[in-house]
Amino acid sequence: MKRYLITGASRGIGRAIAQKLASEEVTLLLHGRNTDALSETCRAVEAIGCAATPLIFDLREREQIDALVANVGDNIDALINNAGIAVVKPLNETSLEEWQTIFAINVTAPFLLTQALVPKMQPGSSIVNVLSIAAKAGFANWSSYCMTKFALEGFSQAVREELRPQGIRVINLFPAATNTEIWNHIAGDWPRDKMMLPTEIGDAVAYALSRPPDVAVENIDLLNVSGRL
Ligand SMILES: NC(=O)c1ccc[n+]([C@@H]2O[C@H](COP(=O)([O-])OP(=O)(O)OC[C@H]3O[C@@H](n4cnc5c(N)ncnc54)[C@H](OP(=O)(O)O)[C@@H]3O)[C@@H](O)[C@H]2O)c1
Repeated sequence: MKRYLITGASRGIGRAIAQKLASEEVTLLLHGRNTDALSETCRAVEAIGCAATPLIFDLREREQIDALVANVGDNIDALINNAGIAVVKPLNETSLEEWQTIFAINVTAPFLLTQALVPKMQPGSSIVNVLSIAAKAGFANWSSYCMTKFALEGFSQAVREELRPQGIRVINLFPAATNTEIWNHIAGDWPRDKMMLPTEIGDAVAYALSRPPDVAVENIDLLNVSGRL
């Protein structure tokens, strides 16, 4: 029985990853903040015979992250760092509080979770980071978001090298625009109908995790074939 922790599984990409990984051979530890939305994800995976444990914690708070770790148990086969937020506004309108909040959720939380959960992993286990094409290129008005994704990419690359001797795989995904609720709060006229479906990210995570323990699919770019939207 594999045990996978998915952060931000209450909706969007995290929920799609949960639904793709769900099976009778897996226990899913599903993290989120919104109780009702997370219950919906739990019901969806339980309907196909998968054991699910809801974990409701706010990743902005160190104490909440510690409590999340305490609820994970003694062993874990995959940590999927997916939870994240976007702050999209011009540099001169970005507040220090927004900068610190996005850093806390998108960077510090994955750091703390990775640090705390690696000791619970055996060779062949995986850390999956949901990054973004914004980890590789800058976009006007996306400075806070790009900062967090570049930072997490740098952290992941270094940790990947550190964990090779332990046989722990670090799998980084770089999706382009994907049609989730994250876009509901981003100003602008975005072509939602051209965005990828979150199930594409779920499929990619499932493929990477399904490889033999000594094979690492380390970096996956996912984008609309027409290019940037
Ligand atoms: N959608 C895209 O175009 C796209 C592209 C590339 C990368 N990504 C990345 O993919 C990941 C998932 O994004 P998404 O599009 O699925 O976004 P989403 O639909 O907005 O979902 C975000 C998830 O993160 C959780 N979350 C947000 N703030 C949190 C906090 N303070 N504490 C705990 N959980 C928190 C949310 O939980 P609650 O709802 O329960 O609060 C939710 O489950 C993010 O890292 C994002 O940067 C997205």
